[in-house]
Amino acid sequence: MPVEYLDYATVDEQGWAADDADLFEKADAASLDSSAHGTLEVGRDEYVLDAAEAEGNDWPFHCRAGGCVNCVVIVTEGEIEMDVQRSLSDQEVDEENLRLTCVGTPASESIKLIYNAKHLDSLRDRVV
Ligand code: FES
Repeated sequence: MPVEYLDYATVDEQGWAADDADLFEKADAASLDSSAHGTLEVGRDEYVLDAAEAEGNDWPFHCRAGGCVNCVVIVTEGEIEMDVQRSLSDQEVDEENLRLTCVGTPASESIKLIYNAKHLDSLRDRVV
């Protein structure tokens, strides 16, 4: 399944908003480096973090077991389902659309996400 990604650091640097409906169109127009913006192919049973690494991406992680927030992303379109995780609140999952990529598999035909979301102000104190 195709997963289009964008680096949170780039969103921040450009002064873009994570909830901007045109965010990925802006990324297209900006001709960003493939480390900041691109598309991955992720198998239905494959963890998003593993797929990103297999394609040579250097995304943040720490525990690889749903126990920290280092690998967190904001899902802006589509769905990622997680195995058991102990780090995100119901509000962060249901309302802020945060997901952990080390325990997250694709659950929709296409997905757009912002990786590197550990730099969100709300998560800063919980990053390992
Ligand atoms: Fe710790 Fe994913 S790396 S939750």
